[in-house]
Amino acid sequence: MNNFNYYAPTKVVFGKDTEKETGRLVKEQGASSVLVHFGGKSAIASGLIDRVCQSLKEEGIAYETLGGVVPNPRLSKVREGIALCREKKIDFVLAVGGGSVIDSAKAIGYGVANEGDVWDFYAKKRVPTACLPIGAVLTIAAAGSEMSNSSVITNEDGGLKRGCNTDLCRCRFAVMNPELTYTLPDYQTQCGCTDIMMHTMERYFNMSENMELTDGISEALIKTVMKHSKILKEHPDCYESRAEVMWASSLSHNDLTGCGTDGGDWACHQLEHEIGGMFDVAHGAGLAAVWGSWARYVYKARPERFAKFARNIFNIQETDDEKAAVAGIEAMEDYYRSVGMPTNLCELGIDATEEQIKEMADKCSFYGKRTVGVMKKIGAPEAAEIYRMSN
Ligand code: NZQ
Ligand code: ZN
Repeated sequence: MNNFNYYAPTKVVFGKDTEKETGRLVKEQGASSVLVHFGGKSAIASGLIDRVCQSLKEEGIAYETLGGVVPNPRLSKVREGIALCREKKIDFVLAVGGGSVIDSAKAIGYGVANEGDVWDFYAKKRVPTACLPIGAVLTIAAAGSEMSNSSVITNEDGGLKRGCNTDLCRCRFAVMNPELTYTLPDYQTQCGCTDIMMHTMERYFNMSENMELTDGISEALIKTVMKHSKILKEHPDCYESRAEVMWASSLSHNDLTGCGTDGGDWACHQLEHEIGGMFDVAHGAGLAAVWGSWARYVYKARPERFAKFARNIFNIQETDDEKAAVAGIEAMEDYYRSVGMPTNLCELGIDATEEQIKEMADKCSFYGKRTVGVMKKIGAPEAAEIYRMSN
């Protein structure tokens, strides 16, 4: 077992009607002036923004609002938020939405608390030294940003989607009412479930010794999400299923399922970021589209790990590890199809040209400066091959 630090400082307030506690939670943080940050229309249409603002008013907290965050959140909106926060002397950013809104809030927090251009932190030119405190009222179970150390922003100039990971941006609190996710379209629910499982799968497919407890938690999480994603297809307002999936979203990306390992193989996420940056697809769908090709490309590096996944997740009885591994990959793709997720770029609605494949592969490798993944090191030629397999 590898040594590890486990740091999960976010206070979780989970359950029905919990959004009414937002004002109290913000006050607890000592904030006096808040930016309420949100997305396109769902949080306005459901009345959630009004309820959250009401709860701030009841605690006597001043606030400004800034909506319009889009999926694959844009740098231009982040810059707008930074300017507004500076002008209004905002000292707390409250994200009301999903991963895109929370990530935009985190980027604003970095931008306000540090000098210079915020994109430098995403372009890996500098490391932030501070962040405004962030809180979240979650409306979609998916990215896990409510408990993660990560923020992913897309720079419209060049279609670059890049992440910045530091503990500074971890949410002070996360309000999670599963009822708020009833209004999600099925496609978004399933994209979210795919992303949740992938945050654990990317940690599970590692090159470390097995850790029994971490593996057990991971397998339970994946099976739970799989089961409830199917129930939600038929019963989108099943509270129990919404709750299981919502809690899984946080546990899957707060590092719990990586304890004691080398941290895992994040190649699929990096490959997806280039698809999202170029084609603006939903993150979870992009992951599903590339996973099977990635798995076929790398499984021989550690067939016993893929075989364990196949046996413990899909109850595959095959005794030969390589055959079991392939059967597990096929079973995962069957699952994706059963919930309406794509298993290749074509099903994602993309017919990538060779030129586009090369561009994504170059960007993924930072133009030859890095490789991604641990099971196999993926540089530009390998990334291009995986994109081709998935095309
Ligand atoms: O803008 P609105 O109208 O709210 O619509 C959103 C959006 O179109 C809608 N939605 C959200 N809650 C809803 C709802 N519609 C109806 N009812 C509700 N209750 O859902 C759509 C998707 O929202 P978004 O926030 O984009 O989804 P998600 O949470 O999947 O976030 C995706 C972003 O997070 C990044 C992804 O790359 C992507 O940019 N990620 C962030 C991570 C992190 N910070 O730790 C890790 C992930 O791996 C991921 O990369
Ligand atoms: Zn993800």
